[in-house]
Amino acid sequence: MSVPAPAVLIVDDDEAIRRMLAAVLTKEGCAVTEAGDGVEATEAFRRRHADVVLMDIRMPHMNGLDAMKAILEVDRGAAVILMTAFAEVGTAVKAMRDGAFDYVIKPFDIEEIRVLVRRALEIRTMRADIVSLRRELSERYGAEGILTDNPRMMELRATVAKVARSNATVLIQGESGTGKELVAAAVHYGSPRATGPFVKVNCAAIPEGLLESEFFGHEKGAFTGAVGRRRGRFEQAEHGTLFLDEIGEISTGLQVKLLRVLQEREFERVGGSSPIKTDVRIVAATNRDLESMVKTGTFRQDLFFRLNVVTLKTIPLRERPEDIRLLAAHFLERFTAQNDVVIRGFDPAAMESMLAYPWPGNVRELANAVERAVVMSTSSVILPEDLPDSLRAERNALAAAGVESLADLDGVEIGRPLRELVGEFETRVIRAALAHNGGNRARTAIALGISRRALLYKLQEYGLGAREGAE
Ligand SMILES: Nc1ncnc2c1ncn2[C@@H]1O[C@H](COP(=O)(O)OP(=O)(O)OP(=O)(O)O)[C@@H](O)[C@H]1O
Ligand SMILES: [Mg+2]
Repeated sequence: MSVPAPAVLIVDDDEAIRRMLAAVLTKEGCAVTEAGDGVEATEAFRRRHADVVLMDIRMPHMNGLDAMKAILEVDRGAAVILMTAFAEVGTAVKAMRDGAFDYVIKPFDIEEIRVLVRRALEIRTMRADIVSLRRELSERYGAEGILTDNPRMMELRATVAKVARSNATVLIQGESGTGKELVAAAVHYGSPRATGPFVKVNCAAIPEGLLESEFFGHEKGAFTGAVGRRRGRFEQAEHGTLFLDEIGEISTGLQVKLLRVLQEREFERVGGSSPIKTDVRIVAATNRDLESMVKTGTFRQDLFFRLNVVTLKTIPLRERPEDIRLLAAHFLERFTAQNDVVIRGFDPAAMESMLAYPWPGNVRELANAVERAVVMSTSSVILPEDLPDSLRAERNALAAAGVESLADLDGVEIGRPLRELVGEFETRVIRAALAHNGGNRARTAIALGISRRALLYKLQEYGLGAREGAE
């Protein structure tokens, strides 16, 4: 496959310099175009985008700095290398802030130009690689990455796909381990910003005093220990998405500063004086109830409103038992592949204790349990003893409630009508589930994956209503 020659635009009013540079760079394998001033340069660039632009600063008609700005507006990925007289080096240094790739001082050594052009081209290739990698990520981590068999979660997944396409600020609320980060990633990778960065800040993990500089960066010497200038997360996330995890943990002081950024779309580095414009989409997540934090005054109402343009609520795993089976199979596949072992599936008793367990740590706890089981397992299926003790405790509670094993066929007299046997089995299961849920019918129905109405019907049918019906 032949790769197109890298395009270089040489801009200088001195024809001798143009000729010399053109000769050298053509020899390097570049496709060279020339322009004699800034106006010509921008026209030439519009006709054909160059990967690298070598630009003199002082020229008639339009100077190199204005031409650079015009060119970067057309394609902000172009690498502009300024060529400047020593007396004007200050201007070139300032231009670095406006997006110049680098500068050389005239008279320059031709080797210097060669090295700079090569480096600019390498960086451009790396950028292109990053963009295509991010595109791949977006195919992998879009809303389709949210696995579920549950109707409410499917609705959430559809909303995620829809919201992703907008630029709206998103607040994700839900218990720990329910997939908030997964949803945040799906919002980013499903959005037009998918080729930009997805930057995460865990607000709970960073010491209060450092959070501001983490967000906004700092200038050299802004505080003790600030040895160099540092870009903050807002700058790192430019043209992408900033994911503020555990947003409920930030101090009221920082809440004010964050609110300002959301309103004005600009911020200042710690110790800096000039505001920096920002184009960042905010996605925030929390497992705390922000609304009640607003009521008690620990979270600013105005910030809450700014963040809460779209709310997405993730659902605890115990409210979607059908996902236990699906996700367990998914994690089994992942962890057997990672550990290079072959395990066909879950022994029925193991699956049963997984289905009976309330999973307070939600999907994360399930993933950990399966990973542990894969590591512990010595057979071709996951056995109950491969699972963490907490699950077995749950199973023992079931056994105590009169159910040895829900799939246990011992003691079943073959030859009796199926309807009768199934009825007996259902009675045992429902009784155990009721006991497990402290007699609460709504929770029992959820645990069994049936509607409340269906549960009431069965309680009546099996005459369980009177004894175990406490609500
Ligand atoms: N529906 C799902 N499909 C596939 N994987 C999932 C799903 N939900 C969660 N996971 C996986 O479970 C793990 C926990 O999810 P995630 O980190 O997104 O939860 P969280 O809500 O951010 O948790 P925490 O509040 O503890 O930070 C991750 O490895 C995630 O990929
Ligand atoms: Mg998380």
